[in-house]
Amino acid sequence: MNKAIAIDGPSASGKSSVSKGIAAELGIMYVDSGALYRGVTWQALRKGVDTTDSAAVIECMLNAEWDFFVQDGASTFSIDGDVPVQELRGKEVRENVANVAVIPEIRKFVVESLQSLENFGSLVMEGRDIGTVVFPDSPYKFYLDADPEERAKRRYRELVAAGESEKAEEVMESLRRRDKIDSTRKTDPLVVAPGAQVIDSTSMTLEEVIQTIVDIVRADG
Ligand code: CDP
Ligand code: CDP
Repeated sequence: MNKAIAIDGPSASGKSSVSKGIAAELGIMYVDSGALYRGVTWQALRKGVDTTDSAAVIECMLNAEWDFFVQDGASTFSIDGDVPVQELRGKEVRENVANVAVIPEIRKFVVESLQSLENFGSLVMEGRDIGTVVFPDSPYKFYLDADPEERAKRRYRELVAAGESEKAEEVMESLRRRDKIDSTRKTDPLVVAPGAQVIDSTSMTLEEVIQTIVDIVRADG
């Protein structure tokens, strides 16, 4: 039977690095759920839709043709025949995605699309509501956590490596703000799913976290 491994947690807890590692180790598909919220946002922006106008964003999503497929071991999608990748990481999308991710109709479309990906085979999916909403019945639910100071340090190191000149205190402040928005929003807030195993990676390496999860999944058959 296909397995769906759910990985949730706050920003910089290691979700995407850990999920990609698990997918590679187990030879299963990797799914970045946030990419789909970003995809809806990108489509709205290129159609000139104001992302604070929920009805217009919904109409824009319904009018588009969505197609899902697997490429290089990761799930991906096209919108009206185009496959956005780098475009999803741009500033405009980043600044508008929060408006789009709070619209219940958009969340419903994204959640149903994510659930349908199980038809492609076993997968590991990272996000904020995978264990609570998308795959609540999966026996493989994990909540990654780490002290806010450690998470801010990880982000800071990434930014410095990318040549950005952000201050360590600003990274900490922005992380605390994101934590608060993610855990207090009305629709599908970030919480530990019932039955999820919490992994605190504050003093663990990436490899140790990946191995811990892979061992649990393998032990189960
Ligand atoms: O996806 P999410 O925002 O939760 O985190 P990420 O982008 O996967 O990880 C943030 C950074 O922390 C990456 O540079 C990882 O390599 C690093 N990391 C780490 O140093 N130790 C861990 N146990 C987990 C992640
Ligand atoms: O990587 P980063 O934490 O910047 O964000 P992301 O995972 O690409 O998600 C983009 C946006 O979609 C964020 O505002 C998330 O809060 C939201 N999101 C969500 O609401 N539910 C998910 N399962 C995944 C992302």
